[in-house]
Amino acid sequence: MAHLRLLLAVLLLCLLTLLPDSAAGGSPNPTPTPTPWPQQFHAKLLMEYKGNLSLADLWYDWPRGRNLHVIRYQLAADAPYYDAEWNNGTSFFYTPARRTCRSAAVGVGILRPDWLTPGAAYLGRASAGGFDCHVWTKADFITYYQDVASGRPVKWIFYTGRTAHVMSFEPGAVLEGEEWQAPAYCFTDGTTKNTLISEPGGFDDESFIPKIRLLRG
Ligand SMILES: *[C@@H]1O[C@H](CO)[C@@H](O)[C@H](O)[C@H]1NC(C)=O
Ligand SMILES: *[C@@H]1O[C@H](CO)[C@@H](O)[C@H](O)[C@H]1NC(C)=O
Repeated sequence: MAHLRLLLAVLLLCLLTLLPDSAAGGSPNPTPTPTPWPQQFHAKLLMEYKGNLSLADLWYDWPRGRNLHVIRYQLAADAPYYDAEWNNGTSFFYTPARRTCRSAAVGVGILRPDWLTPGAAYLGRASAGGFDCHVWTKADFITYYQDVASGRPVKWIFYTGRTAHVMSFEPGAVLEGEEWQAPAYCFTDGTTKNTLISEPGGFDDESFIPKIRLLRG
């Protein structure tokens, strides 16, 4: 009797492995949802925009409501260029080597860790940089590649063609210290140009993560 039960169990197992996944589970594979970003992380990005290359450090810090890009354009003598974004809706763009700064009232805060999920359309699987990825698109604005095995982002492409290749991704990494604070010359009249961002699709393209479009979706 015990033998028969064992035999039956083995037979059943064989059958299940032969059947396609969907039949075995009784329902088709559910559409995957994007892995939310960690609350804090550091990523190194290789950026490309119409042949223009840059390396960017992205420091994302949701609990403290801030997001910093430190950008080095290829062979730029005045690198780095900073793009500091705060949850109160203010962004600062500055180049310490030239003591130039522009601030902008973006009107929205930084991206939430799960910003991609609402309104994202799943496009299926594709290879990016040799990694097997899940691919989503959102609002005809961004195409986002996430490593199937690890859930880490691999690449994203904005509708303009601006592409970020994620070269390293450190969940939990936090940038401490002064580097967050926009320099004093950002707050002095005369050196700082203030831009009010009211038209989506206009200025927001300059930002590395153009939030206005993404927060809608
Ligand atoms: C790449 O683009 C940045 C930002 O517009 C610019 O400052 C830099 O000079 C460009 N690099 C080249 C080689 O054109
Ligand atoms: C937003 O926060 C930053 C960082 O604390 C600050 O420099 C900036 O002045 C604030 N903007 C507004 C409008 O309060």
